[in-house]
Amino acid sequence: MKRTVFFLLTFLLSLTFIGCGREQAAENTGSPGEHTAGSESEETASGKTGTASAEVPENFVLIEGGTFQMGSPETEAWRSEDESQHSVTVSDFYMSRYELTQAEYEAVMGENPSSFSGGDLPVENVTWLEAVAYCNARSEQEGLTPVYEVSGQSVSWDRSADGYRLPTEAEWEYACRAGTEMPFYMENSPSAEEANYYGHYPYMIEENYFSQGNLTVQPGEYRQTTVSVGSFGANPFGLYDMHGNVGEWTWDIYGEYPADGQTDPTGAENGTRRVYRGGGWNDFAKNMRCAYRAMLDQEKGSFNVGIRLVRNAVAGNGNVEGAVLEAGADAGSAEGNRVLIAYFSWGGNTRGIAEEIAGQTGADLFEITPVNPYSEDYNTVLDEAQRDQNEQARPELAAHVEHMEDYDIVILGYPNWWASIPMPVASFLEEYDFTGKTILPFCSHGGGRFGQSLTAIAKLAPDAEMGEALSVHYAGGSSLGDDISAWLEENGITADKNEKQ
Ligand SMILES: Cc1cc2nc3c(=O)[nH]c(=O)nc-3n(C[C@H](O)[C@H](O)[C@H](O)COP(=O)(O)O)c2cc1C
Repeated sequence: MKRTVFFLLTFLLSLTFIGCGREQAAENTGSPGEHTAGSESEETASGKTGTASAEVPENFVLIEGGTFQMGSPETEAWRSEDESQHSVTVSDFYMSRYELTQAEYEAVMGENPSSFSGGDLPVENVTWLEAVAYCNARSEQEGLTPVYEVSGQSVSWDRSADGYRLPTEAEWEYACRAGTEMPFYMENSPSAEEANYYGHYPYMIEENYFSQGNLTVQPGEYRQTTVSVGSFGANPFGLYDMHGNVGEWTWDIYGEYPADGQTDPTGAENGTRRVYRGGGWNDFAKNMRCAYRAMLDQEKGSFNVGIRLVRNAVAGNGNVEGAVLEAGADAGSAEGNRVLIAYFSWGGNTRGIAEEIAGQTGADLFEITPVNPYSEDYNTVLDEAQRDQNEQARPELAAHVEHMEDYDIVILGYPNWWASIPMPVASFLEEYDFTGKTILPFCSHGGGRFGQSLTAIAKLAPDAEMGEALSVHYAGGSSLGDDISAWLEENGITADKNEKQ
């Protein structure tokens, strides 16, 4: 029996403890259907009635522009290096009070891709490209000028158009912070009664896993699903679910922040990875911080990521040009490509999955092992892993892939550790040049699925293409073999097609 069962037990124990005396979900302060155009149209984010207020679209808020510090201070716990603080000015814009619901999406698109089902639930599992298509379709339906011009994978944005669009990263963070400068817009970190997230893991739980006395916010419910939009209190600008429920796509291609001040920045110029913000039902609190930057390929969706719409309050100028595709090995035609399976495993589950993949494909197998192994004691490795993650350590590796240049596709396996990758996997990703290669991640987990591991991999291997990822609960059940074949096929790799020389 695997040690990892203890992880589940610890979850259940902590649930039993903190479950007593708590009630599910807080006051419901409204849902989209409860608001009328009249009552909304008078309001601005600051509570003032401005000249533009008469035109505020139904269920939108006028966010009055201003200058703020985007990113997090170096003292903020669990910040990432890509959150360097810089001064940003944003112009006025309208932002939806709510995440876009499934009913709203379906009414325009005639289909609903969501993993969970319910008209008031936020739409999720929409790719960035689908989100953009929705914006244009709704603009057309309402007689507005569509904002985006889509040409295959490339999308350009007409900043003068008045239709629906996605917020920029800067607009999103400005609106989320709502004038605050803390990790979250609320004074304390969010409890499970204030936001829908992986409630067992409030902010700072990592350092306080065994003794939770030092936590400002105690562990709470993990709902394992999205909830109706607007189920919790609003932020000071009147926006609901800015932390949690679903992450929200932004316009921006992921890139490093510039050091100097910016006005209405629009992100990196090239690439296919788009930033999403705010965290979702499946995220730890540290990954819902105002400054935390998550990303996914624009062609991929997630049950943890949805949409929040904005519209111009003042017309912008010019076009923001579309993404230029970066070339990677085309996993969709794996014939002729050489495949490596590289994995890290502490308790053996990931190893078992890697061996099953090797059995099906005949691909080469490589184990990522640190020179100094982690403790074999479960409680100790929990501490060691969170210490390494907090320090962003890069443990030295004991073995190296001799001819990485020979491989086109790297199937990368790892256990979910504290909602991300174990740091030896980070060492591995930094050791090689993945330009022109495709990474197919697979993650063994104890309930948290991928956590933010896909974002972590994307940040560490910016030049690799990422294929469809696979998550496996612990060692996988009796369907593991079939799940793996289906996943390999989805990525264009089948036993008969794969070539290993
Ligand atoms: C240090 C550590 C941290 C973990 N963190 C998480 C987590 O955040 N979310 C989760 O779902 N499972 C978590 N787990 C459980 C493992 O992901 C799971 O047991 C996995 O199957 C282990 O794979 P392995 O046997 O290959 O090491 C953690 C386990 C360990 C040891």
